Amino acid sequence: MADREVKIIAVLAGDGIGPEVMKEALRVLDAVSKRNDCEFEIREGLIGGAAFDEYQEHFPQATLNLCKESDAILFGSVGGPVSELDKPKWKNCEINALLGIRKAFSFNVNLRPVRVLPELSKLSPLSAEIVKQGVDILFVRELVGGIYFGEKKRFVRDGMRVASDLCEYSEEQIASVSHAAFKAATKRRKKVCSVDKANVLTTSKLWREVVNEVSKDYPEIELEHMLVDNCAMQLVRTPSQFDVILTENLFGDILSDAGAVLPGSLGLLSSASINQDGFGLYEPPGGSAQDIVGKDLANPIAQILSLAMLLRFSFGYQEEANAIELAVTKTLRDGLRTADIAAGGEKTVSTSEMADRVLSYLAF
Ligand code: IPM
Ligand code: MG
Repeated sequence: MADREVKIIAVLAGDGIGPEVMKEALRVLDAVSKRNDCEFEIREGLIGGAAFDEYQEHFPQATLNLCKESDAILFGSVGGPVSELDKPKWKNCEINALLGIRKAFSFNVNLRPVRVLPELSKLSPLSAEIVKQGVDILFVRELVGGIYFGEKKRFVRDGMRVASDLCEYSEEQIASVSHAAFKAATKRRKKVCSVDKANVLTTSKLWREVVNEVSKDYPEIELEHMLVDNCAMQLVRTPSQFDVILTENLFGDILSDAGAVLPGSLGLLSSASINQDGFGLYEPPGGSAQDIVGKDLANPIAQILSLAMLLRFSFGYQEEANAIELAVTKTLRDGLRTADIAAGGEKTVSTSEMADRVLSYLAF
């Protein structure tokens, strides 16, 4: 028998519900490894408040080293309870951990798919009329540029406090994420909507220029430009018009959260952050949900779908990724509901019961 290839996965479960849902995703990974010709080596590391307890830092060097030695990162969530955000353990935890790791590996392309399953359309805050037209959007957000990472200043001028955040984009940064969006669209419905504020911002004017240039390499893709305020409106009015939404860091943060409520629960959403070398971090963008920690209520699906993205994008295991996604769909079709996706009166299942059903469909 040929030697099995070993892939190293850095597992950073983090805080809140992170460890609970990660446990279930790792059971799914185990099921995959039993059938695949590949072996996975899990190396667990600390991030967020969990890392602070040990290192007094939210993104310690030890974790950075662990990630550097891995083939992909599976990330849980970070952040503390709202009432404790001023304590050193939680202060700036998300910024230090998330922005720290994004910067360290230059994860410039953030993919956030949003789909409303017909079975769960009742949960969507949108009317049945709108949902019926189909919601299947891929947000492609630039993740290491713009106002998030520009120079920050705070000073006193004429006795008044003043603060500024610089928003800067180079053509290279814009081109890189644009290529990712166009490539993703070729495998989807072949539409890219690039979102900016080109009627006001210089960075947006350059953004539009560069996106137009990149689009010449993808003649089969239909490109549209949309202003960000209009896009926010269109997302809730006619989400079916969107296939791939390409946008810069801050707009992507806001619009992807608007998109995230369309399926009705953050517990269903996965995401991938990928750099130019194809190295990636995979995480549910829904946060640490401290209010439900330890109650066996968390929905493990976001973490399980993030694992599917990892297998697809970092390792090229399409078949396994498809199988996991199908198992999740079947589980939801069976009517299994964790509390976050249960309509009034519906029976709910626990975190592990939900994962058990997903596993039962992974008969590789
Ligand atoms: C996200 C989050 C982060 C961001 C925060 C926690 C720093 O909102 O991943 O969307 O703004 O990027
Ligand atoms: Mg956000």
